[in-house]
Amino acid sequence: MPTPKQFPALVVSKIASSENAVLTSAPLFETSIRQITIGDLDAGEVLVRVAYSSLNYKDGMAASGHPGVARKFPLVPGIDAVGEVLASDDSRIRVGDQVFIAHANFGTSHDGGFAALARVPADWVYSVPAGMTQKHVAAWGTAGFTAAQSVEQIMRHDIVPESGDILVTGASGGVGIFAVALLSKLGYRVVASSGKKDKTEWLKRLGAADVITRNQTLDDSATPLLKGRWAGVVDTVGGATLASVIRAAKLHSCVTACGQVAGHELGLTVYPFILRGVTLCGIDSGNISRETRMNLWNKIANQWKLDLTGFCHEVVLEQLPGEIEKILAGKLFGRTIVKIS
Ligand SMILES: NC(=O)c1ccc[n+]([C@@H]2O[C@H](COP(=O)([O-])OP(=O)(O)OC[C@H]3O[C@@H](n4cnc5c(N)ncnc54)[C@H](OP(=O)(O)O)[C@@H]3O)[C@@H](O)[C@H]2O)c1
Repeated sequence: MPTPKQFPALVVSKIASSENAVLTSAPLFETSIRQITIGDLDAGEVLVRVAYSSLNYKDGMAASGHPGVARKFPLVPGIDAVGEVLASDDSRIRVGDQVFIAHANFGTSHDGGFAALARVPADWVYSVPAGMTQKHVAAWGTAGFTAAQSVEQIMRHDIVPESGDILVTGASGGVGIFAVALLSKLGYRVVASSGKKDKTEWLKRLGAADVITRNQTLDDSATPLLKGRWAGVVDTVGGATLASVIRAAKLHSCVTACGQVAGHELGLTVYPFILRGVTLCGIDSGNISRETRMNLWNKIANQWKLDLTGFCHEVVLEQLPGEIEKILAGKLFGRTIVKIS
């Protein structure tokens, strides 16, 4: 297949200096879809024709120039990409291989998956697991993988279905839907917390035994420990929610933390940890070894196999700006797969 000379990409550019933006209230960043060339992409040994990407909350942050996420400009955001190898300078990877790309720098400090081509270091390239299609891999993407990491941590801490209810916060989001469905497939009784009242039946179809509102997970009293309710928690939102659910975690429970859509600060005492032995596990999907990543993807392709394409919707590159606005406003639900080429 010939390599296109020009191809479409979503690009975020810095269009004003920080000082000028403060003085004139002018926007600092501009995000648009435009034609770029291979020469515009960051260097790497492997060139991939991107078939699918997906939209993660982090992509919304990168596309709006968030300084902690977008670390070079211009930047093609997109932390997920699945496709076919067009060229490779690495003997492990051959032209025509079906691959996906995963690395903490992809879509943040190195051009990412919201473009028809991606060029990356060979170490960031993984084979699409046997038994999975490119679209399945895009549907799982970073969000699904992060959910799988969270579930794995809960299981490693000896939390079994008999231990009690597992709470998933931000349940209608990308990480949330995979956590609900996977935990339910593994026999856990899952309580989903969501800010979207109209998604109760939808979350039950996904596998939630019960659905509660976001407010029901929050407690703004100064009490250091609440009645122990959760044997495990997959928290995707952080902030006051994470602090409240840790205080409501049962003896020897496990709470995983991966996100910060509700805030990045954590106001707590040490009592949940020293009086109830609660474990707080941080989840980082970006900086993990190749072996760890491949082992978990193998699990996802086999014993943890799920088909959530019915809980995902597909958009094309031109629709991404609108979807990005929705994800940043907390208005999206399910997973957004981006068909690139
Ligand atoms: N650590 C890692 O490696 C890693 C990897 C992937 C994602 N993440 C993080 O995990 C989080 C979720 O990512 P995602 O891609 O699943 O995002 P997402 O699809 O936008 O889902 C987030 C969900 O959180 C809920 N929410 C939104 N705004 C909220 C608010 N102000 N207060 C409370 N809840 C709110 C919404 O669900 P409901 O309406 O159902 O409540 C929303 O659907 C993000 O913070 C992301 O950066 C981290």
